[in-house]
Amino acid sequence: MRELSREFQASAATVSAALSELTALGLVRAEPGRGTFVAERGRLAEPDYAWQSQALGPARVDADRASRLGGYGTPEHIPLSWGYLAPELLPHEELHRIGSRAAKNNRSWMMTPPAGSPELRRVLAAEYRVEPGDVLVVSGGQQGLVFAMRTLAEAGSTVITESPSYPGAILAAHSAGLTLASVPADSDGIIPERLADALERTRARVVYLQPGYANPTGAVLSPERRDRVLELAAAHGAFVLEDDWARHLGIDGRTPPPLITDDADGHVVTVTTLSKPASPGLRLGAVIARGPAGERLRASRTADDLCVAPMVQEIALSLLTSNAWPRHLKRLRAELAERRDALAAAIRQHLPSAHIQGTPSGGIHLWARLPHGSDTRQISADAYAAGVLVGDGRHFFVDEPPAPFLRFSYGAATPAQITEGIARLARTIT
Ligand SMILES: Cc1ncc(COP(=O)(O)O)c(C=O)c1O
Repeated sequence: MRELSREFQASAATVSAALSELTALGLVRAEPGRGTFVAERGRLAEPDYAWQSQALGPARVDADRASRLGGYGTPEHIPLSWGYLAPELLPHEELHRIGSRAAKNNRSWMMTPPAGSPELRRVLAAEYRVEPGDVLVVSGGQQGLVFAMRTLAEAGSTVITESPSYPGAILAAHSAGLTLASVPADSDGIIPERLADALERTRARVVYLQPGYANPTGAVLSPERRDRVLELAAAHGAFVLEDDWARHLGIDGRTPPPLITDDADGHVVTVTTLSKPASPGLRLGAVIARGPAGERLRASRTADDLCVAPMVQEIALSLLTSNAWPRHLKRLRAELAERRDALAAAIRQHLPSAHIQGTPSGGIHLWARLPHGSDTRQISADAYAAGVLVGDGRHFFVDEPPAPFLRFSYGAATPAQITEGIARLARTIT
């Protein structure tokens, strides 16, 4: 260390940091008590992985679809298609405070029961008017969807989804080894007559729906259709997998209650998440299921993973029961309204050829149809090159899209960024 420090005129701390980096790269090896040695050079030959594709067989999850979930784009891109909220809209100060307290709490470093901390399950159960025992704490909504699909549907069977749909649900079904059948939805949600046909034709026993502020359309399932969907589920002995991701993202009027609260017989299984209103990095969600379905879900959870990180559960519990939580949700509503209105106005001004399919009354996405013949793959690629992320509508369909669509999101960009992003997009289109 002394020699290197002299030779390179660097402090001991810098030399030590450099050695740590070289160790991490496997170029040097530290031997306690003896010193640091140059590591033996590994094999230089190029590995041959060709055999693996043959051994693995066809991929279940489409890598292209998967690449659009989670992080994409760069920090320089204006995020006009993004499933989470901008950092300034998240309760970061509260999370910092609660997080440091949770780290010092011994409970954070012990296991919880596999289904989750009893206190957190009680808080989540109250919101959905179920028993705490019906709640299974999971690592976010996406994991909840995969667990639920894998448990509720027999391997190889068909799951119905409203169309367009959340690409992550399509991935979840594929990853669970299921086939998807899609049923069209309009601004009132899934069309019951078409759902009845699909249930008859496919014998599917699971229907994936987002009854509140659907991603990507912003649609809310109308009260009549809520009843019809539950009647159909009962008639066909099917589950409705309710993705309630946008519960805390209502903007206008009252957010409709979860569909599970209308159903007494356990047809509805609900997935909820704190990723949107609290923080995507928290990775905390829940699957709510009653009867044998709930028992099976909780049993298979133990086979997958013994519990969600207790510290994360501790933080979620403190956040949901803090005075700051209702204040945060109130502020969020006002912020989302402003951003949604800025987006709708910018589209009307700069992109009049994009037809908005109903201004969303909640959630964070707005769905727009482009004139026939528009190439959304090219448009989204050109927008990307111009520094703007927009959602290519093709990814929201299981089969061919019926028309060219773009998905815009208003939760991740400021009103000024939204206006600038739409103006830039308009310039790339014309
Ligand atoms: C409709 C919908 N459901 C579920 C999720 C899952 O999110 P997470 O796994 O972060 O909770 C998302 C995220 O984008 C979503 O848009």
